[in-house]
Amino acid sequence: MHRVEYFKYKEGTLYCEDVNISSIAEEYGTPLYVYSYSALTKRFFQIKSAFREVSPLICYSVKANSSLSILKAMVENGAGLDIVSGGELYRAKLVNCFPGKIVYASVGKTAEEIKEAIQYGILMFNVESEPELEKINFAAGALKRKVGAALRINPDVKPNTHKYITTGEKENKFGIDIDSAHRIFLNRKKYNYLNIAGIHIHIGSQITSAAPFVKAIKKIKVLNERLRAKKIFLKYFNIGGGLGIIYNKENLQTVEEFAQRVLPLLKEIGLRVILEPGRFIAGNSGIMVTKVLYVKDTPHKRFIIVDSAMNDLLRPSLYGAYHKIIPVRIRAKDYRAKTKPADVVGPVCESGDFLGKGRKLNVKGGDCLAVLSAGAYGFSMSSNYNSRKRAAEVLVRGNKYYLIRKRENYHDLVRKEIIASV
Ligand code: LLP
Repeated sequence: MHRVEYFKYKEGTLYCEDVNISSIAEEYGTPLYVYSYSALTKRFFQIKSAFREVSPLICYSVKANSSLSILKAMVENGAGLDIVSGGELYRAKLVNCFPGKIVYASVGKTAEEIKEAIQYGILMFNVESEPELEKINFAAGALKRKVGAALRINPDVKPNTHKYITTGEKENKFGIDIDSAHRIFLNRKKYNYLNIAGIHIHIGSQITSAAPFVKAIKKIKVLNERLRAKKIFLKYFNIGGGLGIIYNKENLQTVEEFAQRVLPLLKEIGLRVILEPGRFIAGNSGIMVTKVLYVKDTPHKRFIIVDSAMNDLLRPSLYGAYHKIIPVRIRAKDYRAKTKPADVVGPVCESGDFLGKGRKLNVKGGDCLAVLSAGAYGFSMSSNYNSRKRAAEVLVRGNKYYLIRKRENYHDLVRKEIIASV
């Protein structure tokens, strides 16, 4: 899907849907995350429609953007949630997500987190090891509740993405290898409080082609056939998230093309399909607006110093990720062609603190810039490093806009601290 569909210039000023970004940046200050409700829901319905032949349960992956208003938008439109912590479960409860639509992954669920999830009645745990199976079985026994589980399989395939977001290779900490999973399924009765009825995979993120999914799903098909031969009939197949989006010039398949490649296999396998998209829904539905503080020319190069930093958007620093950066207001005369390329950097005291490198931007101090495709893993990975207040967030729908998170203040930074009388 085209990135800027809901973020477009009108008479030289960037809009989100029908709301002028300049005016909300003025009202709420910067750095500011701005999300489009229509983009978020459109992408959700696009996946739903692409996979309609198997009527999947779509569990939006909370970690991509865990803002309560966004979760509420997802849940109200029929999504379930994919969670990975007690904190995400807490968020799911706050937006009244139906427990039977919650799936819970993570290699390190604590006893407390497991107990809370069982008490809430989630659909299933995606279990990543045998000791974890034992722990969940024990917790379920103590609560006298039978709970659903799927085994997260590590299918050992290469998804061709950044190594930090590759999750289905045998070097990765995630999941259980196929032969061990087969053995666990054969002995599944020993976990008498678990209903181990599904298979889960999640092979990585920002994956741009169907090929690695096809490879992984084929391996699961063989496993499922081996299990059927032993009279073990499963109910669910969760293929995880991972669908890539366009940040720059990625040559990306559409979600429909992706679905056409995997649907025949999913239909042959014949289990109830679950999907866990995060980035595909949120990534291009949000931007980060930041203000230029200084343009600094050194004999060697130019730096555009802005008021947001790696603590606000970590992806460029952590993965070398590319995010397009565009002016919120285009100058009447655009001198971009003559402009020197500049590194767009933040105030944080690290050389790895940058939002973009070698960008041609014709800006002055006080101008606002929009960092695009920042809706997923943007705010959700932000921190208070350098004692910086985390950004405010706004959700736009049509010509209306809503502050969905206030900017932090200094008190927020220290509210849990205790000055020790040592
Ligand atoms: N399901 C599971 C079990 C996951 O671990 C993830 C993401 C998803 C679903 C959603 O994946 P998505 O559809 O968003 O690709 N911080 C990184 C991305 C980390 C992804 C972690 N797991 C980034 O900014 O690129």
